[in-house]
Amino acid sequence: MLIRGEDSAINLPSTLTEEEKWHYDLFGYLVLRQVVLPTEVNQMLEIANEWFAQPETAPEPVNVTQNEYSGVLNNVQYGDRIFERLSLNEKVLRVVMGLMWNRPRLFNCALVLQKQRPVAEGEKEKLHRDTSGFEFPDGFQNPHNDYQAGNGQIYSNYVNTAITLVDVPIDNGFMCIPGTHKSRIKLPTTLDIDNEWAPAITFELKAGDCLVFSSRLMHGAKFWKVDDPRRVVFNRYQFSFYFNENYNLPIEAHRDRISVDQYELESIQRSEKGFAKRILKKLEDGEELC
Ligand SMILES: [Fe+2]
Repeated sequence: MLIRGEDSAINLPSTLTEEEKWHYDLFGYLVLRQVVLPTEVNQMLEIANEWFAQPETAPEPVNVTQNEYSGVLNNVQYGDRIFERLSLNEKVLRVVMGLMWNRPRLFNCALVLQKQRPVAEGEKEKLHRDTSGFEFPDGFQNPHNDYQAGNGQIYSNYVNTAITLVDVPIDNGFMCIPGTHKSRIKLPTTLDIDNEWAPAITFELKAGDCLVFSSRLMHGAKFWKVDDPRRVVFNRYQFSFYFNENYNLPIEAHRDRISVDQYELESIQRSEKGFAKRILKKLEDGEELC
């Protein structure tokens, strides 16, 4: 049972289990199984397929970009409220809240499509850390993409969630080198994704599963090898108390297209937000999250 303490970070009880803290601290990611129902996933796929097929039908401010082998629906949550089931998903937010002292702010939401494509001889997948544009020199820590753990708490102020809308076989989709969210040594240029010193791993996922990961983790995407295209929704959160990573969200001109909770999720706010209070209350009362 969760017991509320003083409203200061040091006394705040974590919404993470001890096992989740241990795993995230060690590896920099967590896998949450089946956070959305198959019926919801199918509805989302139908809508996304329609917008990719006929971009002019995507309502503003959804931004459709695509080429032969890939595509992005940026601001997808403004196109149809069903996508709020991913960014405001309580099962996911419980974990994100536990990583940033119950104060998440959503600063980007995008549905990404990736198709099978011809791969040139010798072409390899690449790994990166997310920077939001400003590359801090080696040896400097980006305060917008920080990771710390202490006193039984985790502070991971830039967290990405990837909810897959299709089944992902092993050796496809998201890949990462576990533990690199804490690494202070640059990946040597002599090493590659399949290096024996710290190989990148992939995940077998079912549609509706969610990967939560620190954007400090060295990560990337494997070439897609399945006929049915990859479709995954990325929600990027940061510590709402301080950070405004980009200035896109919330989109005031289209505020009427999202819920009050979604607007609050996208806004900078120092205090706990309404949805966060509700999730904490549900945890206190032992109610199931949805
Ligand atoms: Fe990334």
